[in-house]
Amino acid sequence: MAEKTRKRKSEHISISLKNNVQAREGTTGFENALFIHKALPEIDRQQIDLSTTVFDHKFAAPLIVGAITGGTHEATKINATIAEAVEELGLGMGVGSQRAALEDKKLEESFIVARKKAPTAFLIANIGGVQLVNGYGLKEIKKAIEMIEADALAIHLNALQETAQPEGQTNFTGILEKVSHIAEELDKPVIVKETGAGIAAEEARKMESAGVKGIDVSGAGGTSWAAVEYYRAKELQDASRRRIGELFWDWGIPTAVSIVEASQTVNIPIIASGGVRNGVDVAKALALGSDLTSLSQPVLCAAVKGVGETRNMLSLLMDELRNVMFLVGAESIGTLCRAPVVIVGKTAEWLRVRGFDIESYARRGGN
Ligand SMILES: Cc1cc2nc3c(=O)[nH]c(=O)nc-3n(C[C@H](O)[C@H](O)[C@H](O)COP(=O)(O)O)c2cc1C
Repeated sequence: MAEKTRKRKSEHISISLKNNVQAREGTTGFENALFIHKALPEIDRQQIDLSTTVFDHKFAAPLIVGAITGGTHEATKINATIAEAVEELGLGMGVGSQRAALEDKKLEESFIVARKKAPTAFLIANIGGVQLVNGYGLKEIKKAIEMIEADALAIHLNALQETAQPEGQTNFTGILEKVSHIAEELDKPVIVKETGAGIAAEEARKMESAGVKGIDVSGAGGTSWAAVEYYRAKELQDASRRRIGELFWDWGIPTAVSIVEASQTVNIPIIASGGVRNGVDVAKALALGSDLTSLSQPVLCAAVKGVGETRNMLSLLMDELRNVMFLVGAESIGTLCRAPVVIVGKTAEWLRVRGFDIESYARRGGN
């Protein structure tokens, strides 16, 4: 079992690096969220403070690296590289699903290395929600947390991926109750995260009621798991799976939409991910209602090149974020989060039909 999991994880990495597994252009909805440029910013760019406190932890910027990997030799290097970069920059990171290491102790090192290289950064343990349905309980969860001395646990939801992969586990019955049990018993914050298909308002409300302390929307627009499975199916010459991968390539709630749906519905921190690709996306995600932002695929591409590349790409994002803050006159993340945003196009249409007051975003600060 562990061997199969390890092999699959390895394929995910190589496919994501070799092929275009991104949703089609314009899926995130970020292009439909527009800041109002301030010709008179009245602030000094040098004085802008990017820091923010979420989950009682101070981050140098509202940016973390989303769950990617673990459980293989190359994953050890990738996790070590990312950990070193986020430690230096004062950010945070999630490790990939720890299932492989729970099945085979020998694989623990690929996760442990993250804490070794990042002694003070905010680290998030990771386990699949479907594993809870299939028998994992508090004992396994605690082990996963202890493995990396995690600050929080992410339970990932990947229904889309499970339907698209041949070995998919598609019984999600009772999953919320399992999440609720873990959230109740654990002394660390439980974050529920999607993996590229987004989280709707109704589901966010259920998660909050279940005791979840944070939601990572991971919406549609970035890495597409249907696309990853499309390439796996191609390799296996599995025509029907390949068709499924193609059909569901862009499935899901666009990231920008999901941020609004979740943040307008619950009172717990929202992490925005799914196609966050630059500092402008980061700024938009924050102004739409998220508390932190996260990205995975671009960091994976940088991490295989080294610590320097990873640090540079994350620093560049922070610099771009600072530029946006300057151009909208926001000296702090709190002010950026209240900056007026005009929501247009299909993102506006979606949110209006769903009953959200999008005009209030444009009216912020008066005009
Ligand atoms: C190669 C790869 C492996 C991933 N593995 C996991 C995982 O084990 N657990 C998880 O919660 N998310 C996993 N994800 C999903 C990401 O955390 C994230 O939700 C998703 O990729 C969207 O972000 P992005 O568009 O910036 O890549 C993985 C993503 C990639 C690219």
